[in-house]
Amino acid sequence: IVINFSKVVKWLPTFWQGTIVTVALAIMTVIIGSLIGLLATIMKQSSFAPLRWLAKAYTQVVRGTPLLLQLFMWLYGFPIIGISIPPIPLLGDVFGSREFLTAVVALSINSGAYICELLRGGLESIDKGQMEAGRSLGLSRWQTMKAIIIPQAVRVVLPGLGNEFIMMIKESSIVSVVGVFDVMYTYNIVKASTYSIFEPLIVVGIIYFLLTAGLTSLMSMLEKRMHVYD
Ligand code: ARG
Repeated sequence: IVINFSKVVKWLPTFWQGTIVTVALAIMTVIIGSLIGLLATIMKQSSFAPLRWLAKAYTQVVRGTPLLLQLFMWLYGFPIIGISIPPIPLLGDVFGSREFLTAVVALSINSGAYICELLRGGLESIDKGQMEAGRSLGLSRWQTMKAIIIPQAVRVVLPGLGNEFIMMIKESSIVSVVGVFDVMYTYNIVKASTYSIFEPLIVVGIIYFLLTAGLTSLMSMLEKRMHVYD
């Protein structure tokens, strides 16, 4: 058995590039996913039933099917019925590619459904009596939401959003299957150029671990500071 890391050392810039793509993908996914999740949460509270059904169907379908299938659907399935995400050459070979942009769409829409559940959990964790209290003080439903319910719900939801970010760091590795140049994909490149398998896998594993471990400790610091569990 020969394990030799010297062959992969000169590929560190490649691993680094992939790392940037992975982090960018996770950041974009969680930001866009939060907006979609928020929209779906608001739709679920609507008094107009079709909006509620639409939001419900969205979260159920997304959470009930594999992310890989959703990615293939956006990349290969929907284009057949005329729905496709165009490349944006201005953004460069990696970030502007059809595959990368489609991955952003597929991952964000996936994440939005999970974030919607998260937000609902946050809102439900706030005692119903608080809405009644706000209303009895003469505040409107929305005023009570804004001044009393949402500030508390945010503190409850924040750790979940952090988890979702960590989740997307790892789950986004699926995009390597369709040729997006993320960290996972750098394994293919380095393997093909050095004929090493074990070493690039170890390097990629270490990178993912450092990212998630770093984020985990960052989150617990933030949580302490915000007194989330007081
Ligand atoms: N691997 C699972 C799937 O394919 C998990 C997706 C998790 N997504 C998320 N946004 N938390 O469905």
